[in-house]
Amino acid sequence: MIGAADITAVGRRLAERSGAAPPSAWDLRIETEGVCEVPAALRHAKHLALMRAYQARYVLLPTGALSGSIVDCLRRHYDPQEMAALEALRHGLEAELIAPAVAAARANARGRDWRAYAEALQTEVASQPENAFVAYVRTSSHREAHYRQFLLQSSADLLAEASASALGVVGEFGAPQSALFRILIDEFGYGVHGKKHSVLYRAVMRDFGLPDEYNACWPLFDTATLDLHNTVHHLFQNPANFFLQVGFLLFAETAYQRSTQDHFRYLREFHPQADARYFGEHAHIDLHHTAMVIEEVAAPLVANYGADVGVEIVAGAELTRRAFDDAGAHMLATARAFDNAAAGGQATPSAPDMAGLGRGVTATGAAALAETERLQVGGLGQVTAGVFAGFPADAYARRLVS
Ligand SMILES: [Fe+2]
Ligand SMILES: [Fe+2]
Repeated sequence: MIGAADITAVGRRLAERSGAAPPSAWDLRIETEGVCEVPAALRHAKHLALMRAYQARYVLLPTGALSGSIVDCLRRHYDPQEMAALEALRHGLEAELIAPAVAAARANARGRDWRAYAEALQTEVASQPENAFVAYVRTSSHREAHYRQFLLQSSADLLAEASASALGVVGEFGAPQSALFRILIDEFGYGVHGKKHSVLYRAVMRDFGLPDEYNACWPLFDTATLDLHNTVHHLFQNPANFFLQVGFLLFAETAYQRSTQDHFRYLREFHPQADARYFGEHAHIDLHHTAMVIEEVAAPLVANYGADVGVEIVAGAELTRRAFDDAGAHMLATARAFDNAAAGGQATPSAPDMAGLGRGVTATGAAALAETERLQVGGLGQVTAGVFAGFPADAYARRLVS
């Protein structure tokens, strides 16, 4: 078990490596406030550390020029010894934070037929009512704040969309590799930068007044957000999970066809000025991606290697379902908690002022603060600490620097 002292030491080392005012893309810091006293703060910090280990596998460059030499900065950011120190903790963090959900999904998948599962999933998604979060936000008087929160929390993955799954494409594994590559190049806009999915996502973030640089919003990520991010990355950053990855794609591409359609309609109706191309594009292209995953990836892999593969595919899909459902339920519970607080005059919607954010605090940690202290909760707005203490356990807030 990785303890508070280990995480504090990692945090110190990452802060040193980042320097005082790192560009967002190279900001490796994690928040370690409260890790000794509050178990939820320790869990949050562990998830941040794991996210940093995963991010270290990507080429990330700052958007603007730096004051020093970019070559020196790049070498410092990707210093192999520093990366190895963090990597040494990765397996322990994964074992603690992610492995139990993987084991539960595998137990749930035992003996199931992947083809019947995939067919049932298509029917289920097609007949589903509107996405519960979108349906709730329609009725709220703080629609903009809720949608800003949704965009901010989802940005953990979507501002580098498909970089995780790209790790499951490199290598050499026959015809399914080429089908996965075709899906991947769609995600990257077929090489047209303006059509790359992460670039489309950037546009909608800007329209809601949010910073759009990769990793810029990390101080405001909920623990639930980090859990989802790390679950997906755990799958793709470990080649041993290859068949689970296919299950992830099966579930994610299928679910996305439907949820993005709901988001697209919502944006057109309530925020017609916002750039909704990200959602419109997915509602269309993920129909094709689902069919490709089923016919060109899952089917030939099971035909070639046997029923074991099908069980892993179902396990990966069920793991993804659990991760998406948990993140969705958390988002909805947080939205309701915010609206209740606003109705009682203890919450005000506002876009985050990233320069004015102080130390992080979990809902349980907020009980130790003065009740009337105002905290920034993600993209939602400001809430008093007394009320935030009753927010969902996986919510996260920042104190304000005055
Ligand atoms: Fe996409
Ligand atoms: Fe897709």
